[in-house]
Amino acid sequence: MIIAIANDHGGTELKQYLLQVLRGQDAIQIIDFGIGDHQSVDYPEYARKVCRAVLDGEANRGILICGTGLGMSMAANRFPGIRAALCHDEFTARLSRQHNDANILVLGGRVTGAPVAEAIVQVWLANAFEGGRHQRRISMMDP
Ligand code: RB5
Repeated sequence: MIIAIANDHGGTELKQYLLQVLRGQDAIQIIDFGIGDHQSVDYPEYARKVCRAVLDGEANRGILICGTGLGMSMAANRFPGIRAALCHDEFTARLSRQHNDANILVLGGRVTGAPVAEAIVQVWLANAFEGGRHQRRISMMDP
């Protein structure tokens, strides 16, 4: 699976932590769109990079991280075809895949601690979309 990932200055530490975890997994390739430092940047620009990679088929899924996760999720969900889920726990991470077919996971680097975020990511990556009635519902979002 190819994962596009990006963050703003509110998500740098958490992104670096998650990169270490994900790069240790053989089945995962990462496309990192930055940022790698703490310069102040505009989260919509980084949301766009990951959304484009997913929509263009360059990546299978995306991960976005800002301080709260709110700005990244708002920006990402402006793109038709993107279903970005801001998750704070494993339950919503699992359901965002099974019921919503979320193609982008959003995390808040100033909200969610690294070990919890790691667990959220693993659950999110491991779970598949269930289709059926859920397919009808997500199709209604992008008619
Ligand atoms: C940056 O200070 C902060 O506003 C951003 O990371 C994010 O939380 C916005 O929603």
